[in-house]
Amino acid sequence: MQYGYFDDDAKEYVITRADTPLPWINYLGSDGFFSLISNTCGGYSFYKDAKLRRITRFRYNNVPHDEGGRCFYICDGETVWSPAFLPAKTALDFYRCRHGLGYSVFEGKKNGVSASLTVTVPMLTDMEVQKLVLKNESSIEKKLTVYGVAEWCLWNAVDDSTNFQRNWNIGEVEIEGGTVYHKTEYRERRNHYAFYSVNAPIDGFDTDRDTFLGRFRGWSEPQAVEQRTSFMSIAAGWAPIAALRLSLTLAPGESKTLLFRLGYVENTQEKKFTALNVINKEKAHAMLAAFDTEAQFDAAMDALKAYWSSLLSRFAVQSSEDKLDRMVNIWNQYQCMVTFNMSRSASYYESGTGRGMGFRDSCQDLLGFVHLIPERARERIIDIASIQFADGSTYHQYQPLTKRGNADIGSGFNDDPLWLIACTCAYIRETGDFSILDEPTPFNNETGTEVPLMEHLRRSLRYTVEHRGPHGLPLIGRADWNDCLNLNCFSLTPGESFQTCSNFESGKAESVFIAGMFVKYGKEYAALCDRIGLSEEAADVRVSVEEIEQATLRFGWDGEWFRRAYDAFERPIGSRENDEGKIFIEPQGFCVMAGIGGPEYGKRALASTEALLGNEFGIEVLHPCYTEYHDYLGEISSYPPGYKENGSVFCHNNPWITLAYCMVKDGNGAFDLYKRNAPAYIEDKSEIHRTEPYCYSQTIAGRDAKTYGEAKNAWLTGTAAWSFVAVSQGILGIRPDYDGLIVDPCLPDTMDGYRLSRLFRGTRYDVTVRRGENKGLIVNGKPVPGNIVPLTDAPVCAVALTI
Ligand code: BGC
Ligand code: NOJ
Repeated sequence: MQYGYFDDDAKEYVITRADTPLPWINYLGSDGFFSLISNTCGGYSFYKDAKLRRITRFRYNNVPHDEGGRCFYICDGETVWSPAFLPAKTALDFYRCRHGLGYSVFEGKKNGVSASLTVTVPMLTDMEVQKLVLKNESSIEKKLTVYGVAEWCLWNAVDDSTNFQRNWNIGEVEIEGGTVYHKTEYRERRNHYAFYSVNAPIDGFDTDRDTFLGRFRGWSEPQAVEQRTSFMSIAAGWAPIAALRLSLTLAPGESKTLLFRLGYVENTQEKKFTALNVINKEKAHAMLAAFDTEAQFDAAMDALKAYWSSLLSRFAVQSSEDKLDRMVNIWNQYQCMVTFNMSRSASYYESGTGRGMGFRDSCQDLLGFVHLIPERARERIIDIASIQFADGSTYHQYQPLTKRGNADIGSGFNDDPLWLIACTCAYIRETGDFSILDEPTPFNNETGTEVPLMEHLRRSLRYTVEHRGPHGLPLIGRADWNDCLNLNCFSLTPGESFQTCSNFESGKAESVFIAGMFVKYGKEYAALCDRIGLSEEAADVRVSVEEIEQATLRFGWDGEWFRRAYDAFERPIGSRENDEGKIFIEPQGFCVMAGIGGPEYGKRALASTEALLGNEFGIEVLHPCYTEYHDYLGEISSYPPGYKENGSVFCHNNPWITLAYCMVKDGNGAFDLYKRNAPAYIEDKSEIHRTEPYCYSQTIAGRDAKTYGEAKNAWLTGTAAWSFVAVSQGILGIRPDYDGLIVDPCLPDTMDGYRLSRLFRGTRYDVTVRRGENKGLIVNGKPVPGNIVPLTDAPVCAVALTI
């Protein structure tokens, strides 16, 4: 069942009913000011840091879910309704939500009045602008009372939801014309405020939430709205809001437009006030003046659309598969940009108050956006490498505002360092910018410790080589990619972190997955060394790669698939010897991608993967699921069977299997798996899948779960990056390389070819792939041996490949 449809021309997902299984959200903003917005207009805004600069309030486990974000009320006679259904909940005569790239549009109709509400964060603006167009489509005059409301968060989102003994006393606002300024704590140490404003004279306001709502009432039925009035309340502590009221008269056929603006301003210490405790509003005035007319708003929307068209034109495919095209050309790349902006911070499932930026997450996300924003990718790599320690290990996370490593979590996740090699090599292949390797980069952000980035890569690799266990395989540490496989923490204490408690340092538990990673990225590192004239180092690295490859073949191969690990007692995990957790997905993906055991082992591993882990929605993490808790395995066995790391389809690593299929040249296998969880392909199962059909979620409950097929944790997942890599570099086979663009598709029998446009190092490559006789590559009309299109200075390059 579907709750909407894709409009590919508009690059929008159109939701046709408000009662989606979960709030289906969108992201607004691309730089400092960000908003989340659901299909019923819920959500929240923040400036740069979702914990420390939360602008509007959001209650994560609210009931009803998602009420009280952006509240619009339209009062028409006896009826009160909201353009996006919530919060008024009055049944609408028409409802539609169109989520586009960086904007959302809500269209509602009731009793002959139509509302069209477009919400966006204009580029380079610290402000969300909400354009509300009301039209009288009836034949009688309409006298409407309109409210626009925002509830302020008292800046620190954690404090805001915990420290009430203080918070209920500090809320302060100022009112000037149609603008409410939120200035809590500005009198003391803060130098920032927020505002909510409308571009027309208001008839009244409220700034105290409980006065506006009235006792025993919620957002669906505020007292002020019921009485079509405002109480002109001035917040003094408690919960400050901005509720603006306007009266409109619309003749038949007439429409009027209002612009509501939610903004954020920082002032310098010297310019904080204009009088005692009166905030300096100069910057706010300028921002409001910049978005005071419909024409200004429309121009910003045009600029936003042009920005996205140009960004997405860097990689665009036309094939016989509409759904593949819409994932590749629009939604997958969009989600990659969202993960660039948000990392794992703010979604409807990530509270924005917990995790900082993950080392491994950020490195992997980069694989999905490096072709879109290479300059930002460069900066990101240096930020990430700067939290590494001199011995090659690294902090697991860092805070985006300070860029400092997160000491609460510390280090010890032994896969982390190797991801730095993966993303740096991807960056250089994309841009040709070898100079990044010379960039002075500190350890643990300490000035004076700077060494060239290349040295960081070298130490990453060395860290794995020097931390091997009894079978010569890499030690796992606290965990590898699978945060929940905790083989060195034997936790029996409720609430204790499975990752950071260290009560059983075996020094023995090993990871076959990290071995696969090492072989893959060790080979890439050696190739990089060769290119920059370090052939001796390349040879040394290849020796280590060979050693770990041999150890994997000897101790990591179980007969029909790769084992997962060895536990603290040197017992295999992910082996037929185990009763549960006999096979895991991760080593099948990485060991096959690394080419360990060649195509023969690859095919066998994939056949086992499909037979034991495959379901309708993809490949499960492990099988059979753990049915009881085992302290020697850790968090993985804490989840009920079929959920999260205990046997769901953990979407992040499914593309590894897709790429493994490409490695063994099985185009049918690759595409079949791709389709099983690519959102556009499962749109018609939305009532089961439940999360947005236009973005990937982290997990889909596995066969053993009570809710098989149900997805959770939409948006902020490494799935976005890896899925894009799998489809663009694996299935379509367009791979940036040091010397040119590789065109090496791995298509299913059902696809005859495709056309593709790819911007690469300043040249636009127009690629046509088709099946036929006279196989081979033709570049600008001339046959070229192999599958690499050589670099060129020309602005355009025509490439034809016959397969
Ligand atoms: C989750 C993992 C996540 C980890 C982060 C665990 O509870 O299951 O998916 O990576 O927390 O610390
Ligand atoms: C989510 C985390 O962000 C990621 O780093 C980890 O690899 C997966 N969970 C699997 O545990």
